[in-house]
Amino acid sequence: MQEATEPVRLDLAGWPAALGPELLAALSGQDTSPPWTLPPARAAELVAALDGMRLAGSRLELHPQLPPGTRLPRVHLDRSRRDGGRAWLPFLDEEGRYSLSSRELAAEQAAHFPGPTVVDAFCGCGGDSIALARRGLRVLAIELDPARLALARRNAAALGVELDLRQGDARALLPTLPAGSGLFLDPPWGGPGAQERPCDWGTLVGIAPEQLAGFDPLVLKAPRSFDLSSLPPGRSWTWMAHLGPPEASGRRGVLALSIVGRCFQRRGSAAPQPG
Ligand SMILES: C[S@@+](CC[C@H](N)C(=O)[O-])C[C@H]1O[C@@H](n2cnc3c(N)ncnc32)[C@H](O)[C@@H]1O
Repeated sequence: MQEATEPVRLDLAGWPAALGPELLAALSGQDTSPPWTLPPARAAELVAALDGMRLAGSRLELHPQLPPGTRLPRVHLDRSRRDGGRAWLPFLDEEGRYSLSSRELAAEQAAHFPGPTVVDAFCGCGGDSIALARRGLRVLAIELDPARLALARRNAAALGVELDLRQGDARALLPTLPAGSGLFLDPPWGGPGAQERPCDWGTLVGIAPEQLAGFDPLVLKAPRSFDLSSLPPGRSWTWMAHLGPPEASGRRGVLALSIVGRCFQRRGSAAPQPG
């Protein structure tokens, strides 16, 4: 097999209809819609980055059209930055470093909450809680792992913000919390490679919809593979995709979906009309 030398046509299949062309442009670095005709090295990079990617309940396929007897060039990956440059808190364990929201993403997610209070149900080392507190919100932050909760406490103190930190299982504690707060959910994605595995509300969040009734708005940070059709009923849902730096383990940027759900009854007009 010889390396292709002429421009290669690339077809894309499986793009989720729910996600707009802006995200495709950001992911692909191409400012036109597919099919693309690209130099072989660039086509190889795009295949390495996108082919097989699970995205919003779909799976992308890139089909290069190559002359017989030719193949795409090999792609060399940069794995030099283990945390992808995301470590903006001073006290992190390995999981905390891996799962920490970037400073920019944490600030964007926090901006969805009007206040005055918000529950961060899976606070980890505190990235999102700290961003929420920096907006002047009262933050009740829950974390199952006592050692990680202690890191969140140290981070909050180091950055001069106040958090109401509680150790426990968020799924058990939620029903005991006063209604009327916002709710931020960043449950564990399942470690490296999680973005490639299908996931949905049941497997990722595992909180029964009736337990969410008193919380509004709700923001869920989910991996790109999250199946948007599994979002529980009773809210209007919108989502944005955030492309992060390359993952420690590989070739793809971390792509988080920030999914915002607002209760119909509190928004007044957002409920679908019958019939
Ligand atoms: C993805 S991390 C959160 C990262 C955080 N948003 C940040 O930016 O720093 C998820 C955290 O949820 C915690 N966790 C897992 N199951 C939990 C549960 N049932 N209740 C509370 N916390 C839980 C894990 O220990 C982990 O620290």
